[in-house]
Amino acid sequence: MDLGNRRGVITGAGSGIGRALAIEFGRRGGSLLLVGRHTDTLAETAELVARVGGTAETLALDVTAPDAADRITAVASERGPIDLLVNNAGNVRAGRLDAIPESDVHAMIDLNLTAPILLTRAMLPSLRATATERGSVILNVSSGIALVGMPFYTVYAATKSGVAHFGEALRRELHGSGVHVATAYPGATATPMMESSTAGEDLGFGRRPVDEVVADILTALEAGEHEINTALLSRRRMQELNVSDPLAVDAALAPRLEALEEAVRNHRSI
Ligand SMILES: NC(=O)c1ccc[n+]([C@@H]2O[C@H](COP(=O)([O-])OP(=O)(O)OC[C@H]3O[C@@H](n4cnc5c(N)ncnc54)[C@H](OP(=O)(O)O)[C@@H]3O)[C@@H](O)[C@H]2O)c1
Repeated sequence: MDLGNRRGVITGAGSGIGRALAIEFGRRGGSLLLVGRHTDTLAETAELVARVGGTAETLALDVTAPDAADRITAVASERGPIDLLVNNAGNVRAGRLDAIPESDVHAMIDLNLTAPILLTRAMLPSLRATATERGSVILNVSSGIALVGMPFYTVYAATKSGVAHFGEALRRELHGSGVHVATAYPGATATPMMESSTAGEDLGFGRRPVDEVVADILTALEAGEHEINTALLSRRRMQELNVSDPLAVDAALAPRLEALEEAVRNHRSI
């Protein structure tokens, strides 16, 4: 998969994984529309993209707003043909299900699941139109939690496994169209999203540096992969066990439940 000179949209590009992805697409000559709510952080990313040889414009908006998908598509299309969509913007609120306020439940579903579906739907005709040349790319950023539902992340897990299956179904629906649909499953990654969690390696949340994770994602995309897992080895073993013997995962997590609940009690990026 040739990722050079891609033109398109990256959501949540003002920090973390989205910013690092923007820089990597920029390094490859990308011409990007960076989307997020805060103008200042988007402008910083645009500057970083320019420094590595790419071009970037910014669009400050909430991707969960009712007209966001159409607005992003209209602005992106004004700039010429589009052959890249990265659905990266996401949020999290951890804790026992009955302690998560209803507004946070909606906020996670709206941003992590509904927004990428609506944006993909709006941009699909443009992505299909450019796919005949060298293929267009849709990259959805899911999470390792889509592969092992972790306790205290019930709603987040629902949204991330939802977006993963959305991508899988869409990939099959678009078979032969030239639209490459890929899903990234990052494990814990050192970004602003993780700052309010104190869960570390002892609880299975050892964090990888964001540049390393994004380099792995780009390498896998370039190799034509569709399912891109950046988890550490220990978490990968748990993912395999979750397929072969899910109750063994329950048993392995049980002794650490109390410590995990405490460590993620304040984990919130909404
Ligand atoms: N870090 C991890 O350990 C990890 C692991 C697995 C998966 N992920 C996933 O990776 C993706 C990126 O997360 P990250 O770790 O890089 O977190 P992050 O640094 O918090 O980045 C999230 C970005 O999304 C933007 N955003 C939030 N709400 C938005 C909204 N309503 N409309 C538009 N943009 C919005 C934020 O910018 P504004 O505030 O300016 O809008 C921010 O730039 C997420 O989908 C996350 O679930 C992260």
